[in-house]
Amino acid sequence: AIDAKVQALLARMTLEEKVGQLHQVAGPDMTGPTRPEGKNIDKRADIAAGRIGTVLTVKSVAETRALQDLAMQSRLKIPLLFAVDVIHGYKNVFPIPLGEAASWDMDAIEHSARIAATEAAASGVHWTFAPMVDIARDPRWGRVMEGAGEDPFLGAAIARARVHGFQGKGLGQLDSVMATAKHFAGYGAAIAGRDYQAVDMSQQQLLEVYLLPFKAAAQAGAGAFMNSFNTLNGIPATGNAMLQKDILRQQWGFDGIVISDWSSIAEMVPHGFAADLADAGARAINAGNDIDMEGYAYRTHLANLVRAGKVSEKTVDAAVAHVLTKKFELGLFDDPYRYSDAAREKEVLSRPEHRAATRDMAKRSMVLLKNEGNTLPLARSARNIALVGPLANARRDLEGAWIVQSDAAHVVSPADGVRNHAGKGTRLTVVPGCDVACTDTRGFGAAVRAARDADVVLIALGESFDQTGEARSQTSISLPGRQAELFARVRAAAKAAGKPVVLVLFAGRPLVFSELASQADAIVYAWLPGTEGGNALADVLFGDYNPSAKLPITIPRSLGQVPIFYSYLSTGRPIPETEGQYASIYTDSPNTPLYAFGHGLSYTTFGYTNLTLSAPRMAGDDKLTVSFDLQNTGKRAGEEVVQLYLRDPVASIARPMKELKGFRKLRLDPGEIRRVSFEIDQELLSFYNDKLHWGAEPGRFELMVGSASDDIRLRGEFELSK
Ligand code: IFM
Repeated sequence: AIDAKVQALLARMTLEEKVGQLHQVAGPDMTGPTRPEGKNIDKRADIAAGRIGTVLTVKSVAETRALQDLAMQSRLKIPLLFAVDVIHGYKNVFPIPLGEAASWDMDAIEHSARIAATEAAASGVHWTFAPMVDIARDPRWGRVMEGAGEDPFLGAAIARARVHGFQGKGLGQLDSVMATAKHFAGYGAAIAGRDYQAVDMSQQQLLEVYLLPFKAAAQAGAGAFMNSFNTLNGIPATGNAMLQKDILRQQWGFDGIVISDWSSIAEMVPHGFAADLADAGARAINAGNDIDMEGYAYRTHLANLVRAGKVSEKTVDAAVAHVLTKKFELGLFDDPYRYSDAAREKEVLSRPEHRAATRDMAKRSMVLLKNEGNTLPLARSARNIALVGPLANARRDLEGAWIVQSDAAHVVSPADGVRNHAGKGTRLTVVPGCDVACTDTRGFGAAVRAARDADVVLIALGESFDQTGEARSQTSISLPGRQAELFARVRAAAKAAGKPVVLVLFAGRPLVFSELASQADAIVYAWLPGTEGGNALADVLFGDYNPSAKLPITIPRSLGQVPIFYSYLSTGRPIPETEGQYASIYTDSPNTPLYAFGHGLSYTTFGYTNLTLSAPRMAGDDKLTVSFDLQNTGKRAGEEVVQLYLRDPVASIARPMKELKGFRKLRLDPGEIRRVSFEIDQELLSFYNDKLHWGAEPGRFELMVGSASDDIRLRGEFELSK
């Protein structure tokens, strides 16, 4: 029925009105550079003339209503579609997506997106530019904070959870926003981690690693895809027909909207792929890009391109139909103001349960990396706690990039959180010692004195909110300024007094902190945890919550190891076989990371025993079941993320040493034993061969079950027969 309505409307539209539906402009906030073509254009007049179909970065009922009023003055009264980058919360800020990914908790991740959608939709927003599902293996890249880390299997699961969370029961519900899988594709593999840089990779790697989460997002029903700024093997993603037409539309059957990134159509000119803006516009739409975001290629040239025969009107119609279909599905033709209700906005944005959910998510995201001598959890009876370090009083820094309607004054700082939790008789001394940039050491003395007098020293170090995010790549991923020196001095004072030191790190990326790691008694990697970050941290520190998070990305020992990830191929000279003789090693560092993918401790321990396979071999459509016993061998209830890895040791194309192919997060009481099973089918064993055919090859397979990619507890093998 919608299709008929779309066709009927298309038949009434002029070419200029069609072009208008494909032109997106920014509202009050600019999230990219201004194009010269847009500088003197009155956007409000353009909306009233039906020359704009969608607006980004408008974020309140008042703003959306005012602009929709203008659209209602246009000849055909086609409603505007409002988009915002709702990345990790709207009013209430959840942990950055990389932090959420560390929870490995699909229900919690879906719930987080659900709340963000509920709040955004109550503000008149129809569409979010999330989830970002780019695989990222280079922590220099500032946007590593926005994705789900390094692994395609985990990334695909999280992509599904986020799409379901944003879209809820479906477009048109008043608590749903349309999701966008971005950035299609390869953006996370920018050379040397520099944002917007070229990407060059094999087709196998593209299909198996970088596209897997996108495919999952498409299958989960994401309403939109955004292409990306980068060239992929020389062709800008925005002008890439192989990606947008062959793979996305034909192979995956995607029928939603494809939008450019901010002026990425225009950027095909400096890429050296298009001669000028008109050529760029023609190449983009002919390659399957529907909407031009703030690029002015379509606004300026598309109608003439059609008249000149460079773009067929059919192509334009197909793109417009994608946009109109979503507007119908969202119910905007029934009531263009249906999401813009001031009373609802007020009520929804002040719901206490939303704020509580950010705390729940944040505590699930914090990774306990080290806990020597059970330093943690902290005893409530501690008489004197020192909290030092530049993040001790952080509020805005806990929110990270891409926040929308939050108020940093309402963020719970680490100091507030610890104060809220500490026992009545506890004295808490808070001394930052320096600011985040930490170039001025004059405050170090006070921090050292506080450490000297304390029973336990907490030291909160890390990055500021604007060190990660778009255009925030760095050549150093060590702690800023002289933070490491502050740590050394504070630690020396604590150790001289025989007191433990707990390192708490706040960051949007894996940092390099090897020296500190060896010297701290306990380490909590808290990411950028959002509105309730301080309370969530204290929940973990005091043991009100037993930490359960696991790294979704490798933490390197040094920048020189980057890019480093767990699912590497073997070299021809692996260690230990070569015993270090002309082996594939660094002469100044082990190959292993500081903390591996999947690593994360708990206040309890888990045992893995009794691995069984339902059969020694499988064939055709068989499913093989691998089972084992998981036991909580400690004294507290806790959650474990059990991980299944597979390896195809001999194949027509070399395969990774291990690949994550299953995981489950389970809560067990002390002593409890649970039988856990995973099913293995041919799909799980499949890969792209050198002819780019997808399939599994017969032979022996190795399976590994464990608590981290470098903590394999059980091993088995089976045969895939012809
Ligand atoms: O959605 C973003 C994208 O991820 C990066 N460039 C700007 C867009 C709109 O804000």
